[in-house]
Amino acid sequence: MSETNSVRLSGPGGIEAELPVHDGTLGPRVMDVRRLYAQTGMFTYDPGFTSTASCRSGITYIDGDAGILLYRGYRIEELAEKSDFLETAYLILFGELPNGAQRLKFIHDITYHTMLHEQVQFLFRGFRRDAHPMALMIAVVGALSAFYHEDLDVEDPHHRMIATYRMIAKMPTIAAWAYKYSIGQPFVYPRNDLGYAENFIHMMFATPCEEYRVDPVLAKALDRIFILHADHEQNASTSTVRLVGSTGASPYAAIAAGIASLWGPAHGGANEAVVLMLDEIGTVDRIPEFLARAKDRNDPFRLMGFGHRVYKNYDPRAAVLKQSADQVLATLGQKHNPKLEIAKELEKIALEDEYFQERKLFPNVDFYSGIILEAMGIPTKMFTAIFALARTVGWMAQWNEMMLDPEQKIGRPRQLYVGPGERPFVPLEERP
Ligand code: SDX
Repeated sequence: MSETNSVRLSGPGGIEAELPVHDGTLGPRVMDVRRLYAQTGMFTYDPGFTSTASCRSGITYIDGDAGILLYRGYRIEELAEKSDFLETAYLILFGELPNGAQRLKFIHDITYHTMLHEQVQFLFRGFRRDAHPMALMIAVVGALSAFYHEDLDVEDPHHRMIATYRMIAKMPTIAAWAYKYSIGQPFVYPRNDLGYAENFIHMMFATPCEEYRVDPVLAKALDRIFILHADHEQNASTSTVRLVGSTGASPYAAIAAGIASLWGPAHGGANEAVVLMLDEIGTVDRIPEFLARAKDRNDPFRLMGFGHRVYKNYDPRAAVLKQSADQVLATLGQKHNPKLEIAKELEKIALEDEYFQERKLFPNVDFYSGIILEAMGIPTKMFTAIFALARTVGWMAQWNEMMLDPEQKIGRPRQLYVGPGERPFVPLEERP
């Protein structure tokens, strides 16, 4: 990182500090506070890390004000239109688009890691059939740390790459098997003659009883959804993966933690929550009632799929998904899908509303994704599992980047202590 100048701080009690300022390639400069405590005896205070850069990264850049998202410098809109998920995964992992030979080898290597150890299927049986797929994925991915523990040295780049390929390859199998388990159907094994998204759809909907042909339109639409969800800078689940990985823990354990973090409705769980919200709204004429609730501080209801910590403009992923929704639903003969019509009217009214305008609340990636997935026949409970499947590429790339970063060390934030001062123990008989 280039260091161009510094910031001088002075504060109560004659505190003085001079802190280096660093520039990145794009985006805000950073004030390097690593010496702040040594120079001032003070910590920074930033709940939710609204103004904190936790690392340097060359993977994804977001300009929240302009609504721009770049993977290794390439616009998400271009990748969604012109690339495919595994090629984008290669770009995110290795920093460059693959040439022909690199592309073919990467696809082959991922394809030949899609099977799970035969014992893994028995892990599912410990769960009730109605267990949420995200709970199953946390458990099964975490369990992989037991299957690949002995021969995994996280300090070995070759071991890290094998773990990376295994995770990216096996997530579709794990997600599809979570679905099959929930409906009591037999697991369908991955096939090496199918593409990545195609294989996932086949494992989700095929049965041993007959040949299942994957609709190429659905496979392409799902592949595009994977691209849009692949990475997103230092979001909550990626930061979780980095923090777990910073202790030297197994990458499978780190990914399991990332899945757990993503599940929350404020994060990846929002795609499921959006569809449930649209179901609850039911008709366009009830939109004002729900918008009023969203604006009411005393009502915990929030407009799911709206707002973002970083985007203070339209999430470019939401724009691609809105356009894709029109195309996919028309192809599926659902040109007048009621949920899509409510979503579009809700967006229109909200974006004209002062409350949303003042707070710069726009649709985010989760607002339209669930409508497409539902129209494709994917059950609501699987939406966040699909988000986790795609985000595994970003989680693994960010984990690898963290492991190679000489500045990284075990993550260990401090606090502003507001508890009681030191006091002597009170014997039971003297307590009130
Ligand atoms: C993802 O970080 C990432 O990159 C995440 C993600 C990724 O790809 O990894 O992009 C994926 O998680 C997308 C976000 C999905 N979540 C939702 O759609 C849930 C609904 N959205 C909100 O919960 C909220 O907008 C967050 C959690 C997304 C962002 O919250 P912030 O940044 O902490 O913002 P905030 O809560 O401080 O809100 C600022 C104001 C508040 O009002 P005031 O107190 O100023 O009066 O905006 C209001 C909030 O009440 N607000 C909303 C709202 N979101 C924010 N009011 C109504 N409905 C909403 N959706």
